[in-house]
Amino acid sequence: MSTTSTALDALNPLKKKESAGDGAGSHILVPGKLDISHKVILYLDSITVSFDGFKALNNLSMEIDAGELRCIIGPNGAGKTTMMDVITGKTRPDEGRCFFGQTIDLTRMTEPEIAHAGIGRKFQKPTIFEAHTVFDNLELALKTDKSAWHSLFATVNDEVRDRVSDTLRTIRLDTEAGRPAGLLSHGQKQWLEIGMLLIQEPKLLLLDEPVAGMTDDETARTGELFKSLAGKHSLVVVEHDMAFIEQLGGKVTVLHEGSVLAEGDLATVQNDERVIEVYLGR
Ligand SMILES: Nc1ncnc2c1ncn2[C@@H]1O[C@H](COP(=O)(O)OP(=O)(O)OP(=O)(O)O)[C@@H](O)[C@H]1O
Ligand SMILES: [Mg+2]
Repeated sequence: MSTTSTALDALNPLKKKESAGDGAGSHILVPGKLDISHKVILYLDSITVSFDGFKALNNLSMEIDAGELRCIIGPNGAGKTTMMDVITGKTRPDEGRCFFGQTIDLTRMTEPEIAHAGIGRKFQKPTIFEAHTVFDNLELALKTDKSAWHSLFATVNDEVRDRVSDTLRTIRLDTEAGRPAGLLSHGQKQWLEIGMLLIQEPKLLLLDEPVAGMTDDETARTGELFKSLAGKHSLVVVEHDMAFIEQLGGKVTVLHEGSVLAEGDLATVQNDERVIEVYLGR
């Protein structure tokens, strides 16, 4: 067997990683670089997910542009959470592909590989460490990001502190840094969890019902936060709160029975007969 590198080596992810020599010591395969030269950061191509014959997603196709703030709405059971499960690798589609940029096929990657590639997901229930301070929660989140940890923490402690401080300001918890996270309000806990994602500098953020249970004031502040994140990050927000969707002001995609029913600005989809029918029942 020849030991010289061949064209086949290029297809072998282990070989590729070896030659990339990233030195990060990570066990996670590093996919190719994110290619957003065509402006699209996420492309769902004819995704179908069946549960015992029931199609939770049915030939779903969608494109999200880099830097976009996209809202996804739709009645209960429309497939919104299942869509996020597919993007993050929690659920494998029966059919279809899901691309991150032009080249990274998420349907071939594990959940940790997808997170490492730059996709962060916020679940409804915060998974913060209540007994630890707000500051420590953010520092711990940075630790779980292996590449950042190797390049930052081992050498430059000030850089870690700066990154935590920047994140604290972004999520407006700088005055709470020393408090145990368990003492925060519900809304503040949600922001901390968002901060724990942001500190890992994801390219794409997926947020499933982020303002559920928040006060009106917390909801409005969350809207401001998301709008300030768009551009640098791409955001996909699933929500039922229409006032919040209106505040965000981005393009809205309506899901129904696992497919896209309508897409456009909020006023357009709200006036769409099919959307009205689906929401009001027939
Ligand atoms: N693991 C599973 N096994 C079987 N059925 C499932 C599973 N996950 C989801 N489903 C079904 O798939 C459909 C879509 O569910 P999904 O949770 O994606 O909807 P959703 O749009 O997020 O709804 P909601 O607005 O209520 O959160 C539902 O009918 C649900 O019961
Ligand atoms: Mg859901």
